Amino acid sequence: MNILILGGGGREHALAWATMQNPKCDKLIVAPGNAGIAAIAECASLDVLDGAAVTEFATDNAIDLVIVGPEAPLAAGVADDLRSAGVLVFGPSKAAAMLEASKAFTKEICDAAHAPTAGYARFTEAALARAYVEAQGAPIVIKADGLAAGKGVTVAMDLATALAAIDDMFSGEFGAAGAEVVIEEFMEGEEASFFVLCDGTTALPIGTAQDHKRAFDGDEGPNTGGMGAYSPAPILSDEVAQKTMDRIVHPTLDEMAARGTPFQGVLYVGLMIQDGEPRLVEYNVRFGDPECQVLMLRLGAQALDLIHAAAEGRLGEMRVNWADDHAMTVVMAAEGYPGSYAKGTEIRGLDALAETSFEMCFHAGTVEDQGRILANGGRVLNCTARGATLAEARDRAYAMIDAIDWPEGFCRRDIGWRVLEG
Ligand code: AMP
Ligand code: GLY
Repeated sequence: MNILILGGGGREHALAWATMQNPKCDKLIVAPGNAGIAAIAECASLDVLDGAAVTEFATDNAIDLVIVGPEAPLAAGVADDLRSAGVLVFGPSKAAAMLEASKAFTKEICDAAHAPTAGYARFTEAALARAYVEAQGAPIVIKADGLAAGKGVTVAMDLATALAAIDDMFSGEFGAAGAEVVIEEFMEGEEASFFVLCDGTTALPIGTAQDHKRAFDGDEGPNTGGMGAYSPAPILSDEVAQKTMDRIVHPTLDEMAARGTPFQGVLYVGLMIQDGEPRLVEYNVRFGDPECQVLMLRLGAQALDLIHAAAEGRLGEMRVNWADDHAMTVVMAAEGYPGSYAKGTEIRGLDALAETSFEMCFHAGTVEDQGRILANGGRVLNCTARGATLAEARDRAYAMIDAIDWPEGFCRRDIGWRVLEG
């Protein structure tokens, strides 16, 4: 098979690595890719938001399967363009990607599907939203409806913060994404993520994970895209997973199919779990980053078979071969992230790292310049390792971190604390 992966972060490096483990992959192109991906696959510069350009590229390069990494091309309808041209694609249509692109839409689906989630109200006017929040009191959660690069959510522990968030959203800070605001009941509990492959009708769970969103140790500091993750998430027991499938995932997929917009791709189910009862926090319509890195290291070559089957509507015949193992990924970010940071600092020591099915340093934001690897983003490297226990995976991941010579980078030292100290 000739395969094209869209994206260029750590998630896509992990997808590319798993794809290359599978002998069914004859040729792999990643667009745009990064310096780590370039070491294992061909990278192509391509505007991944331009459906016509992606379709032409796929056709010209005799691509048999396109795997879409990030949400932006999905929300832009790139999967629809590929499908109309007869190109096999893993990833939902623009209509089904609404599960991530609009929080109000997701709430509507949850209502119709009777899926447990936070109570909510929707507003297009600041005055009404403020009055509602004043009546409800804090804590309360304010969300911009649309895609806001992970920044459109304020969990307000007091009224002043909630009101300020409403003003910010209606002031146009998030552009069209903030034209509508969803205000939610604050849910207590522990968060975990559940990943389910879907082919429109069949749903197949492929793993659980937890990530660390805050920048610094002890869950302090600003929110980020994720500073590390581990899999499995012990709180997401088989029993909680079954409840999630029965009460949230299947009813959602049935509702999407009934509306004529079946969901195909990976459904990232963000959950709040309290006393063994899962409630939906959010859906994403793609793999998490960095959650994908731990899932791919655990699944290995079979990931491609599963993704291929989802794209072809054959998930019913597939099984996941679970290993009783644990994986952890630790993100190295550029000093200053998630605020402003420098690009172009040199990273040394990467060549000496082992690259095995137990440890891989996935690149998230790097470029090569005359044989040197330079940082080219906020999140830059993902040291990812697998072991019989989470402690073993952690020790391997941090040994990789310690072998990397990059003075301008930083990482959290406590990834997995909830499980390791528990
Ligand atoms: P979202 O983008 O919807 O996942 O929200 C980002 C983060 O805000 C989540 O990962 C949660 O930590 C938190 N959050 C969102 N909605 C709620 C809620 N209703 N109750 C408590 N925390 C929430
Ligand atoms: N790590 C969170 C996300 O990918 O949305």
